[in-house]
Amino acid sequence: MSNWDVEKIRKDFPVLSQSVNGKPLVYLDNGASSQVPQSVIDRTSKYLSEEHSNIHRGVHYLSQHATNAYEAAREKVKRFINAKEAKECIFVRGCTEGVNLVAYSYGRKFIGEGDEILVSQMEHHSNIIPWQVVAEEVGARVVMIPMNERGELIIDEYENLLNERTKMVAISHVSNSLGTVNPVKQIIATAHKFGVPVLVDAAQSVPHFPVDVQDLDADFFVFSGHKMFAPTGSGVMYGKREWLERMPPYQTGGGMIRNVSFEGTTFAPIPDKFEAGTPAIAAGIGLGAAIDYINALDFNAAAAYEHELLDYATERLADIPGVKIVGTAANKASVLSFTIEGIHPHDIGTILDQQGIAIRAGHHCAQPVMQFFDVPATARASFAFYNTREEVDKLADAIQKVIEVFA
Ligand code: ALA
Repeated sequence: MSNWDVEKIRKDFPVLSQSVNGKPLVYLDNGASSQVPQSVIDRTSKYLSEEHSNIHRGVHYLSQHATNAYEAAREKVKRFINAKEAKECIFVRGCTEGVNLVAYSYGRKFIGEGDEILVSQMEHHSNIIPWQVVAEEVGARVVMIPMNERGELIIDEYENLLNERTKMVAISHVSNSLGTVNPVKQIIATAHKFGVPVLVDAAQSVPHFPVDVQDLDADFFVFSGHKMFAPTGSGVMYGKREWLERMPPYQTGGGMIRNVSFEGTTFAPIPDKFEAGTPAIAAGIGLGAAIDYINALDFNAAAAYEHELLDYATERLADIPGVKIVGTAANKASVLSFTIEGIHPHDIGTILDQQGIAIRAGHHCAQPVMQFFDVPATARASFAFYNTREEVDKLADAIQKVIEVFA
């Protein structure tokens, strides 16, 4: 294995040292939510115990202090994804809210009757449904970019689907149900030849490898904090300034206006225009601390380690008769979905839980993926850089036991 001191890293995450059902916790549900390091807990707690106040509103000490901390977190986000400006990074509640924001704000203004929105077959529901709702409202159509049996997008078909009616391409960077890493840079470059913007759902990529929105040339790039070692309620919708300035607000209320009267209202410049009401201040500051935590690591080494772990887990599970891996793309990250012949994934999840092993079982909010592979659900182990080879062995051994129980 690569030179990665996983035992030292594990000590940073207090949750990991507990027992569940009398067994040491093996946490393999990072795709749903990752764990939080002590430094992020401490920073969030410090804010709540010493610095809490509403932001952007007060002239008093605490309000200015909280505002500075929140805006410092925005700067950290900017550097983390290499945005051109911090103002292009809009704080949202999570990836789902980010996609909804773009779908409704961009969609209602720039998508019309007869237009098309290209969405891949492997998307999470949160990157399908907002587009369906907007399409219905404006008379547009959601068109699916198909994938092959390995769970890879069929790029030739994608290119054929692009045309002058296409107004948006919405695509995940990494599939939450299959682990496929999509060639988003290439997808974006092709869309741009048609003048079409691209939204990247990066919820499952930002915790696993470094990203660069300028290098990708992404128009919109959305992700959740709680999958990248930050508290729930934090997330980011990055958008290029030229789009954000032309888009109307998604929600309205306090903090997002320039001037209000009963004759009419004018809106504040970005980012405030998209941040109505009091935000999740503690969570946003926590997200900044999570970025500090990642920055203090060798993130490339973390990614390489995690990749080796995924390869090892894939080998171990592939060797177990009756286990079928769902999603065998050449380029994958973090996610290992599988089924066991004759055993429902919920039963697998429940029996593994008795061994202290946390995985997710279900359709993973990606029912079209389940329909494509003709399964009702899968069991999914999803890894982070604090997981170990020993945990993979425990997973494989427990799966073997599940098969014996049902034999
Ligand atoms: N989207 C999250 C997952 O894949 C909840 O589990």
